[in-house]
Order: sequence, then structure tokens, then C-alpha cells
Amino acid sequence: MEYILSPSVLAADFGRMEEQVNSVREAGCKYLHLDVMDGVFVPSISFGMPVISSLRKYGKDLVFDVHLMIVHPKRYIKEFVDCGADIITFHLEACDDEEEIFETIRLIKSFGIEAGVTIKPGTPVSAVKPFLPEIRQFLIMSVEPGFGGQSFMPEAYDRLREARKMIEDSGCSVDLEVDGGVKESNFDAILEAGANVIVAGTAVFRGNIEKNASFFTKKLAIFSNKL
Ligand code: DX5
Ligand code: ZN
Repeated sequence: MEYILSPSVLAADFGRMEEQVNSVREAGCKYLHLDVMDGVFVPSISFGMPVISSLRKYGKDLVFDVHLMIVHPKRYIKEFVDCGADIITFHLEACDDEEEIFETIRLIKSFGIEAGVTIKPGTPVSAVKPFLPEIRQFLIMSVEPGFGGQSFMPEAYDRLREARKMIEDSGCSVDLEVDGGVKESNFDAILEAGANVIVAGTAVFRGNIEKNASFFTKKLAIFSNKL
């Protein structure tokens, strides 16, 4: 299993993106996490296709890990593929029913990219079980989606353990991602709970970006070697 840091640009300075993307790359990051918010599924509005297309210029070699917090995401999958998404993760709660979820996953994969699903803190982990054979990534939200800079919800540790066990029992090869409130002090516990793709916004982009990101990437390398 690979351990990956996915820095969330929501906490970045959008006027200095080239320099900041270079800093996370220098620190050994392979992913970039892109939070798309529509003001309906979540209260806030972030950015959409034009910003992601522009970031592609600086991040050609990075895996664009797009987290859609929008209602009925299947309406926009083609647009996010065209602007450079490599993985599209969407919320189960943003779809009406199982059929719409399966259709969205199939649509994402039809473009030759990877699909992920995610759940808010109040949705049972077991809700993702039927989709495990079809997805590459399962994202557990450790805050209510919508804003960066919130505190990690401690209930997420048990949810990560439950999700990791569910993935192992299924025999499917699915990455377990965590998003929200990750920082130096809870990083080890999050890894111990079973996450292997770690999103961090504030903890990477506030202060010295390369130093912050290196702290996490070095820890991930040590953790991978221990296994
Ligand atoms: C929240 C977003 C997160 C956010 C994380 O809805 O999905 O990706 O950027 O930010 P931090 O790491 O600051 O909690
Ligand atoms: Zn996110």
C-alpha cells in the first residue's frame, strides 16, 4: 500500500499558485487536492473548472485529486475531466439514490480516470460497501465539508478503522483517504487508524509550505517502510 499526501489548495494563496505548487512538489508530493464547492451541497463556494485548468499548467506531473462538493455531480463530470482531473471523488449524499451513484461512478470511469466516493461525518461507513468493487478511493470526511481550517472530529478514528476493515474484508484494492483538520499532532493516530491518502490544507499551506509538506512526506515514508 502506498502512503500519499494530498495537499488541499483551498488554503493556498491563489495569487502565488505556481510558487506554491512547486513547493509541494519539491517536498515530494505526488497529489494535489482540489475542493469544488457549489454553495448548495455545502454553504460555501470555492472554485471550478477555469481554476483547475490553470493549475494544470504548474502541476502537469501531479495527480489531480478532485473532491466535488456539488449536488448531482454527474452533470459536470465531463467538464472536470476536460480541465484535468485524474481522480474524481463525489459525495453519496449529493445523489438521489444508488442508481445515480452507480451511474456517476461509471461515467467517471468511462473517461479513463479514477472514481472515488465520500461521506459526511453523519453518514454510516457501511453506506459505501456496495460501491467498493467499482471505486479506487474511499474518502472519510473528518470535518463537516464546506470549509478549511476546522478541527478534526475524533469520531473519525473509529470510522477510519471501520472503513479499513470493510475494504480489507471486501478484497477490493481501494485507497482510504481522510480530509479535514489533519495536523502534525494527529497525523500518527490517523495513519494508525488506517488512512493511506492524507489531505492537508491549512497544515501545509500556512507558513513554510515546503517545510510543512516535508514533515508529512517524511513521516509517510517512514510509515511505509515500517510495514
Ligand atoms: C473541506 C475540504 C478540505 C479542506 C481541508 O470541506 O474538503 O479538503 O480543504 O482543509 P484543512 O486541512 O485546513 O482542514
Ligand atoms: Zn476536500
